Amino acid sequence: MSTLRHDDPHSLRHFAISQSAPGHWLPWGRFPDAVRTGWHQVTAAHGEENIFDYFSTHLDEASSFTESMGNLSRASALDIAAVLDTKGVTLALDIGGAGGDVILAMMKANPELDGGVFDLPHIVPVAAEAAKAKGLEGRFTTVGGDFFDSVPAADLYILKYILHDWDDASCVRILRNCRASLANGGRIAVVDHLVGEVGEPGLAPLMDMNMLGMTGGRERQITEFDFLFTAAGLRRVKVSTAGAFAVIEAEHTTLTSSIQL
Ligand SMILES: C[S@@+](CC[C@H](N)C(=O)[O-])C[C@H]1O[C@@H](n2cnc3c(N)ncnc32)[C@H](O)[C@@H]1O
Repeated sequence: MSTLRHDDPHSLRHFAISQSAPGHWLPWGRFPDAVRTGWHQVTAAHGEENIFDYFSTHLDEASSFTESMGNLSRASALDIAAVLDTKGVTLALDIGGAGGDVILAMMKANPELDGGVFDLPHIVPVAAEAAKAKGLEGRFTTVGGDFFDSVPAADLYILKYILHDWDDASCVRILRNCRASLANGGRIAVVDHLVGEVGEPGLAPLMDMNMLGMTGGRERQITEFDFLFTAAGLRRVKVSTAGAFAVIEAEHTTLTSSIQL
């Protein structure tokens, strides 16, 4: 029960609140239709193109969802910080970074590192507050925007639980925008679950179902990430494990891809 308290270090309070709020449970109530059509049920349930459009007009639920991401991220932020080498990195940006738990853990572990969160304009104030509460505001920036338009320049991007929200064409658009602003010699770190064989238990298949009903995205295998990287002009250079997550690093490639998405 203590995990439902807000002051428990392993609190899942906001996760429980946000998953049982109408934004989530109404599309989930149509899960059989998601299976039949292969597409998310947010439009059928809420009349919105995607769940983030729904949140933009339901700010209480948006705030609870952002906190719920923090509940999940806090558990793995230190593991992610431990496997991501930030030597020589001037600025690391957490793209779609919500409340900033991952980048703030990285900054805490690496006192030289400047970091920031890029997210939708109504979300980034939460990250700014979190940085202030940790005394890290002097090295921290927030930028509000749309990653389908562009992202600010940096030499390390972290995309945690971002690509799993989107179909392949959208993922490639996000990755191409990151590539376009990535400093020479910079890296993109995708943090997502890796799915195994069908029938293999774990969090990944459950989250895969959540993505089917809620977003039109999915959890992927490593070869599916490679396909996205290649289509975006990137190449995978490293894979590490951080708790339940894979940290998949990619960098520029000069090879041109013939993949059209
Ligand atoms: C599943 S959450 C992941 C949050 C965080 N990275 C984590 O793992 O805890 C997806 C994030 O992407 C952000 N987002 C969605 N659409 C976006 C867009 N078009 N541009 C920028 N951020 C967006 C959401 O506001 C949300 O914070």
